Amino acid sequence: MAIEIEKPSVGLSKVAVSETHGEDSPYFAGWKAYDENPYEESNNPSGVIQMGLAENQVSFDLLEEYLEQHPEASTWGKGAPGFRENALFQDYHGLKSFRQAMASFMEQIRGGRAKFDPDRVVLTAGATAANELLTFILADPGDALLVPTPYYPGFDRDLRWRTGVKIVPIHCDSSNNFQVTPEALEAAYKDAEDMNLKVRGVLITNPSNPLGATTQRSVLEFLLDFATQKNIHLVSDEIYSGSAFSSSEFVSIAEILEARQYKEAERVHIVYSLSKDLGLPGFRVGTIYSYNDKVVTTARRMSSFTLISSQTQHLLACMLSNKEFTENYIKTNRERLRKRYEMIIQGLRNAGIECLKGNAGLFCWMNLSPLLETPTRESELTLWKSILHEVRLNISPGSSCHCSEPGWFRVCFANMSEHTLEVALKRIHNFMDQRKTGRN
Ligand SMILES: Cc1ncc(COP(=O)(O)O)c(C=O)c1O
Repeated sequence: MAIEIEKPSVGLSKVAVSETHGEDSPYFAGWKAYDENPYEESNNPSGVIQMGLAENQVSFDLLEEYLEQHPEASTWGKGAPGFRENALFQDYHGLKSFRQAMASFMEQIRGGRAKFDPDRVVLTAGATAANELLTFILADPGDALLVPTPYYPGFDRDLRWRTGVKIVPIHCDSSNNFQVTPEALEAAYKDAEDMNLKVRGVLITNPSNPLGATTQRSVLEFLLDFATQKNIHLVSDEIYSGSAFSSSEFVSIAEILEARQYKEAERVHIVYSLSKDLGLPGFRVGTIYSYNDKVVTTARRMSSFTLISSQTQHLLACMLSNKEFTENYIKTNRERLRKRYEMIIQGLRNAGIECLKGNAGLFCWMNLSPLLETPTRESELTLWKSILHEVRLNISPGSSCHCSEPGWFRVCFANMSEHTLEVALKRIHNFMDQRKTGRN
């Protein structure tokens, strides 16, 4: 039962009252609208369709099939070997079998082109915890991280809220598919300097920032050169690495390091999680993979705050060390995501909407700028509201991802059935037709 306090008088900490959590963004407001009136095929066919959630539900059948065939991974019989040991296990190093399985899964996703040492795998409760923990280690309150825009809206919370670190945007635009350029990077660094902020690192999402596009090898090369020249860190959040539509299209920062014989590796850290590639955000399984010994040790100590339950580690150690399962899963999941992507791109094109060419992730980036009254954030949000309330689709406006060009929207396509996606596309088609007739 809620207790109404008319006039709160007892104070809370600065962190608690700070507005830097980022949850007031339309990104989260759209989720609320969905929660109040969720679409359901038979019970609520006119409800809001959730297209703002980067979840992967296209390969659940493969996970379920594995669990059915391998009950030893998820069940504990009375007195079963391992139960007591597992129940008592709380070492922040994590289960060795799980760290080994994670390292080898990360190698497999990269087509074997990079090697990962299980002793450098630090376990965290998802990439959310990994990104915050790394920020705590790399920067002091008031320091800055440079992050290319558009970026995942959760970064405002994860990198900023409790750490007191500032995010300085590296502004990217559609003229080169939103890739980071050396000029944009230098400009962001200068912006930070002009604000008297000490830059401690660059954080990129590779592949697939909110755009669904992979970062090119040449971009990773100059990012690493830049980090070296300025003596700062480079964090690569590779949470979508297994969701690139083909392994050869995705380049990990780990491959660049390997090609350079690990020179400058001490400043590079990779974040990964099973939330997207395996579709298990509820399991809260993430990692920091750092090439810096001091960072590994400190991150491990700090991971005490966000450990993964040993039961979950046990299940996933079994699942991910089964090569037959992982090979089939990675291949099939990629194929299904690509198929979904092609379906939505074609559907949007039929409705007269163009998207950025993507090759990874659980979403596409659609260009509705021709529909804006004026090329402003306000117009973008007006359009977003009418899509949310009239078309009843929750998509994410580019401005919630700090995109500097108005009119772009992120649309998720893997968190629903194919049928629901068809309904969504039909609604968009009708909306575009109405707009056209309204203008004629
Ligand atoms: C780029 C990026 N990093 C981190 C996260 C958070 O992932 P997790 O569920 O593993 O905390 C997300 C989730 O959407 C993301 O898109």
